[in-house]
Amino acid sequence: MRIAWGISGAGHLLKESIEILEKLKDKHEIKIFLSRAGEEVAKMYKLFDRLEKFPLVKESKQGFSFPSCGAFNLERFDVFIISPATSNTVAKIRLGIADSLLSCCASQALKSRVPLILVPTDSKPVVETKAPNGQIFKIYVRKVDLEHLRALKREGVIILEHPYEVEKALERFLWT
Ligand SMILES: Cc1cc2nc3c(=O)[nH]c(=O)nc-3n(C[C@H](O)[C@H](O)[C@H](O)COP(=O)(O)O)c2cc1C
Repeated sequence: MRIAWGISGAGHLLKESIEILEKLKDKHEIKIFLSRAGEEVAKMYKLFDRLEKFPLVKESKQGFSFPSCGAFNLERFDVFIISPATSNTVAKIRLGIADSLLSCCASQALKSRVPLILVPTDSKPVVETKAPNGQIFKIYVRKVDLEHLRALKREGVIILEHPYEVEKALERFLWT
């Protein structure tokens, strides 16, 4: 499959997302779309070098209209996965805002009927996560962020709890 994989500026589930990317790499054609915050955060967690091994579209190198998002209108990808997806990017997608690389790609994907899979960091009321220095802490997810996920699900967006579920979720597209 031709997979577009978005990485937003989240520390939570970042390492696990990269592990799945590395696992899928030999079986699929993958291009990573990396938000500006995603680039910064991946560097903070010392994971950026693993992303550089993939074809990479960086928000930091894009113009204001995100020309690379046009690939979703032109049927260049079979699916768009954002993992990890920050609450910021999820909120923008839900509300139809397309002013960042990932929200613009998601907007174009949805408008061109490219299936969208999200693995949000804020997917349940309490999330335990790790800071770049290794300290564990809790996030108390806001109701509005959970409501965005419910609304996106109603729109047909596939919401997963963990990147480890991505491989199974892709199976449904392999047989259609
Ligand atoms: C070290 C670090 C880790 C972060 N982890 C998360 C996270 O897990 N979830 C989240 O929603 N935001 C997280 N953020 C905040 C986002 O990076 C910030 O909201 C950013 O504007 C998101 O931009 P993007 O959605 O375009 O990638 C983190 C920020 C830092 C500095």
